[in-house]
Amino acid sequence: MNWRERVYAGSLTSAAQGSNVLLMGWVDAIRNHGNLLFIHLRDKSGIIQIVFNPVTNKESFEKALSLREEFVVAVRGIVAFREKGAENQNLSTGNIEILAKKIDIFSSSRNLPFKISEKAIVFGEDINLNPEHVDEDLRLAYRYLDIRRPSIQDLFIKRFRIIKEIRDYFYAKDFIEIETPFLTKSTPEGARDFLVPSRLHHGKFYALPQSPQLFKQLLMIGGIDRYFQIVKCFRDEDLRPNRQPEFTQLDMEASFIDEEFICELIEELIVRLFAIGEINLSRPFKRMTYGDAMDLYGTDCPDLRFGMAFKDATDILTDTGYSIFRNIIGKGGKVKGFCVKKMADALSKNVLQNEYAMRIVPSLGAKGMTWMKVIDGKLQSNIVQFFNSAELSRIIELFDAKEGDVIMMIADFSPDLVNKVLGLLRLHVAERFGLIPENKYSSLWVTDFPLFELKDGRISSQHHPFTMPDRTEFDPDNVEDLLKLNSRAYDLVINGEELGGGSIRIHDMNIQKKVFQALGLSSKAANARFGFFLNALEYGTPPHGGLALGIDRVISMILKVSSIREVIVFPKNRSAVCPLTRAPSSVEEPQLEELGITTPTGFSSVDDEILTRQKEGVSDTRTAIKITKDDVRHVAKLARLRVDNSEINEYAQGLTSIINYVEIVKELDTEQVSPTSHALESKNVWRDDEPEKESVAEAILSNAPAREGNYFKAPKILEG
Ligand code: AMO
Repeated sequence: MNWRERVYAGSLTSAAQGSNVLLMGWVDAIRNHGNLLFIHLRDKSGIIQIVFNPVTNKESFEKALSLREEFVVAVRGIVAFREKGAENQNLSTGNIEILAKKIDIFSSSRNLPFKISEKAIVFGEDINLNPEHVDEDLRLAYRYLDIRRPSIQDLFIKRFRIIKEIRDYFYAKDFIEIETPFLTKSTPEGARDFLVPSRLHHGKFYALPQSPQLFKQLLMIGGIDRYFQIVKCFRDEDLRPNRQPEFTQLDMEASFIDEEFICELIEELIVRLFAIGEINLSRPFKRMTYGDAMDLYGTDCPDLRFGMAFKDATDILTDTGYSIFRNIIGKGGKVKGFCVKKMADALSKNVLQNEYAMRIVPSLGAKGMTWMKVIDGKLQSNIVQFFNSAELSRIIELFDAKEGDVIMMIADFSPDLVNKVLGLLRLHVAERFGLIPENKYSSLWVTDFPLFELKDGRISSQHHPFTMPDRTEFDPDNVEDLLKLNSRAYDLVINGEELGGGSIRIHDMNIQKKVFQALGLSSKAANARFGFFLNALEYGTPPHGGLALGIDRVISMILKVSSIREVIVFPKNRSAVCPLTRAPSSVEEPQLEELGITTPTGFSSVDDEILTRQKEGVSDTRTAIKITKDDVRHVAKLARLRVDNSEINEYAQGLTSIINYVEIVKELDTEQVSPTSHALESKNVWRDDEPEKESVAEAILSNAPAREGNYFKAPKILEG
């Protein structure tokens, strides 16, 4: 076979009619008409129809009869126009086909775990195009099949284009790409490190970098001036939909620059990248201080595609007759809320009172919620009678409330809690009632973050300790003063998602020392952690700053996919497990010995641990796949279930054991086992002392909202 002769399916057009071509690829679909056999041959460029005709070429026809989906073949044939009416408008090659002369089968394929083909062989025929209908873990376990689908492959082609655009952009701006080490020392991003044991130095560990933060600063000290890198970062943190333990950053740093340099540079880049997804972002991006973001939207990542900014009603209600508000305000609390335009019908009294005030808002952390609606020009609610008319009209004025609008308010002694809960409530209402405009993009720089925050009563850095404060004259021992300091940090937020963040760094050792002192970090402790870096800082450090973008988040937003896992080729699942390789997994005992490690529990992997526990009948739920309280809250939210704090632990334990049991079941070879709806034979069992009643099934099913035969039919509420 002459490999050089190979042409791509997608490259063929009617101009090739009559030519003799050699194609190679996968069998996407097959249709046997008895007198003719059709296949769709798929390669990375597209699909073309091949026709096998027993009259003109018996040998190939017979060979083709053995083809199944995903066999890999080479086909030689002649390009021909399709018969009139047999065109397939879903294919770019839909008006031509290949009349096969010869077929070679390179390899066969086992039965597929899910359908790969995305194009019906007959135009107009239905085909399930939505890969999200397949269980995600199954897709990831067979990711090599999943990425054969053109729609998935397209995501990675676009990912490649976006990353290439980033590289081209930075090359053109005189930045150079430098790789920094993966086997390194702990970096200061605040998550847990993944540790790598050293064989040569027993008891010592490398840390995988949470980011190249200190190395890029060292590069600036080294005079590199403009650096960037597309780099993997590793963080052992609780997973959320937009987090992976291993993810990619565009990391950059530059010397002798300020915040404006970074913002301009990154805005121009982001606009170009979004244009690849045909999304127009307008510049300049909006800017908002952290203080305003928290005050107006209750989050440092506000989604500005829609309004519902908070208004503070505290001053209006100081002396109100509504004692709950008056007491809270009297003790330094706040009353704040937002106005939902024209939603009085959807937000009925029942929804507001029984769902939001009684259940949803308490589950978000506040004690309750107050609501008011503008009906016939007046405020209506279950408590308006406690407010005087001046207060009511000032409320209308404050919230700019018009006919049909709904005001939702939260009051609490803690102003931070008011903001936080209102922030979550704003998103809940907007998502539930479709108030977030689709295809709108709102880009924002959040600035002026506090440099420090109080954690468990102690001063700690809100970002990392190398961030430059907005003023350098401060007393490191004065907590009040420290909490007033802002950092020269900036976050890039689009549509409520943090896509990137960075800061101007400290380049002066005296300021650095003061920051460590403020953090209560002795010079000994600081040296133990970052000594190499602090040393370098004293050898002539240029003013510098930079930023990192979460590339997976940027790409998933540009490509409009539901999760960053869609654009990561072999991601970990929600339990931080790789369904394909089953990592993390056991290692051989000798390998551990070489590293000087013994596993404390005597188990070496997730799988071994679960299996052994199961065999021993140990009901202990300390298994490696652990459902956290956050997971339970997430599932409860999806299922619209209210769970009390006391129940959360119980559910977390129960779900952990169920999931770990399922993990074992997944290991079983079930290929030849036919599906069954009951693990045990199902039959009715009656008490001996009671005669069997014939109509009992009728009685049991009498309340079924829907039934099928003798079964209660339940609605399908969750998928995937
Ligand atoms: P930061 O910690 O804000 O900054 O990270 C930068 C961006 O990386 C993305 N990101 C993640 N993406 C997927 N999974 C994760 N687990 C994850 N964690 C973070 C986010 C985030 O905005 N060294 C600093 C940057 C600097 O100061 O220059 C840093 O890493 O989109």
